[in-house]
Amino acid sequence: MTYDLVIQGGLAVLPSGPARCDIGISGGKIAAVDDRLPPGNRTIDATGKIIVPGGIDSHCHIEEPSSGIVRNAETFASATGSAAAGGTTTVISFSTQTKGGTILDNLRNYQEKARNSYIDYCFHMIVTDPNERVLDELPGLIAEGHRSLKVFMTYDPLFVGDEGFLKILALAKQNNALVTVHAENHAAIKYMIDALSRAGLTDMKHHAWSKPIVVEREAVHRAIAFAELLDMPIQIFHVSGDEPAQEIARAQQRGLKIFGETCPQYLFLTKEDLDRPGFEGAKYVCSPALRTPADQEALWGHLKSGVLGVVTSDHAPNRYDDPHGKMAFGKDAPFHAVPNGVPGLETRMPLLFSEGVVKGRIDLETFAAITSGNAARLFGLDDRKGSIAVGLDADLAVFDPDKTVVLHNGMLHHAMDYTPYEGMSVTGWPSTTLSRGEVVWDGENIVATAGRGQFLPRQPYEFIAPNGRHVVPFDAANGIEVGA
Ligand code: URP
Ligand code: ZN
Ligand code: ZN
Repeated sequence: MTYDLVIQGGLAVLPSGPARCDIGISGGKIAAVDDRLPPGNRTIDATGKIIVPGGIDSHCHIEEPSSGIVRNAETFASATGSAAAGGTTTVISFSTQTKGGTILDNLRNYQEKARNSYIDYCFHMIVTDPNERVLDELPGLIAEGHRSLKVFMTYDPLFVGDEGFLKILALAKQNNALVTVHAENHAAIKYMIDALSRAGLTDMKHHAWSKPIVVEREAVHRAIAFAELLDMPIQIFHVSGDEPAQEIARAQQRGLKIFGETCPQYLFLTKEDLDRPGFEGAKYVCSPALRTPADQEALWGHLKSGVLGVVTSDHAPNRYDDPHGKMAFGKDAPFHAVPNGVPGLETRMPLLFSEGVVKGRIDLETFAAITSGNAARLFGLDDRKGSIAVGLDADLAVFDPDKTVVLHNGMLHHAMDYTPYEGMSVTGWPSTTLSRGEVVWDGENIVATAGRGQFLPRQPYEFIAPNGRHVVPFDAANGIEVGA
C-alpha cells in the first residue's frame, strides 16, 4: 500500500515516549507508525525535527458576539489560521447565552460562523442564566455533542451566583456534561474596585490590587466544594498562581476529579507588566490578574506534577489601539473599564516548547500532554485527537527545534494589533502543521482553505454518572438513595 503522505525520520512523541520513526498517513488518518516506511505519494523529510500531536487549545474566545461597544477582533478564519501557524489543530471556543435569553438564541448562528475555520473545532456553552427554558434545552444540546458548559463566578452580567452554579452542575451531572469554571469571588472584587476607585487608585497596576490571589483561591475552594457536594468533575480555568493550584492539589489528593488549566500569560508575564508606561499596561489586563515570579515557578511545578494538566491560550482578542478594544472607554479609562484578556493562540505552543522543553523545565511527553493529549481526554476528543497513534486523525505539529524567532506582532496571523510577548526570543517553531493529513501551515504560510475545519461532536463521559456517590435530590424520585 502506498500512503498518501509519509513523514520520514522525525522524533515523534508517541504514547510510549519519543521515538525516531516514520508516520504513514492515508485518508486523513494515521495509518502506520514504524521504524521505516516506504515513500508515500508525498513525503515530508522531518530529519532533525520533533513531531508532536497537533495542539488542542481548549479555551479561546473567537468571534463571540459584541458586548456593548467591545468587539471580538477575530473571525474563525483569522483565529484558526493563526492557531495552525503555531501548531494547534483543534480549538474549543465559546457559545454564550445572553442573560435572559437561551443558549440556542446564539448557538446556531455561532455554528454558522465557525464553518469558516481552518481546523477542527467544538464549543463550550457558557450558561449565564440557568432559567427554565435553558434547563429544558440543554439536555438536547448536550446530546448533540456539546459536552461542556462554562460557568462564570464573577463578571457582570455573566456570573451566575452560587445557586445558579449548583443548578448547572446538577443538570450537567444528569445529562453527562463537564463543567468548566472561571473562579473568582465576585463580591470581593466589587468591593475592592469600589474602595480603590474612591481612593483614586485606578491605574492599570491597580487591576492586580483589585483581585489579589486570595479572591481566586476562595472561589476555587468554593467551586471544588460544590463539585464535591454533587460528585461532579470540574475543570478550573486559568489558574494564575500557587494558592489556587494548591487548592486543586488538595482536592485531587482527596480523590476528587478536579482538573486545572493554566495559560502562558501566567507562566511568562507578571503583575509588573501592568505598570508599563502610559496606557500600555492595558495590554496586560486579564482575569485572574497576573501574579509574581514565585507563582510562575510554582505553576511549572504544578504542570510537572500533573496537578495542572492543560495549558490553553485563553485567547481574548481585544485590540489595543482600537475604540472597540482596550481603548473602548478611552486612553485614560480606569483599569476596571478595560476589556479583559490577552491574545495568544499562535504563541502558546512555541512559548511552551521554548521555555518548557528547550530550557529543561518539562520533557517532551509533558509538553505533548499539556498542549494536546490531556485536553483530548478531558473534553472527549481522544477517539480522534491528542496522540500520534494508528487510526487517529493525522493532526500533527512538526517542530523545528533549532529555529529561533524574536516574537513581534507583525509575524503573527491573528487579527490583533499587539502580542504581550513582543521582543521575546523563542527557540522552536512549527515548520509544518497538518490537520487530518492536510498541510495547513508550511512554515511560512497558511496554505489550506478556510472552511475545511470540521465540527467535533463529543461522546458521553465515562466518569460522569448521574447516580454516582452523592446523588442530586431529583434522582431520589427515581428510587436512588440520596447520599448513597
Ligand atoms: O481576562 C480574561 N481571561 N478574559 C477572557 C474571558 C475569561 O475570563 O476567560
Ligand atoms: Zn475566564
Ligand atoms: Zn476565557
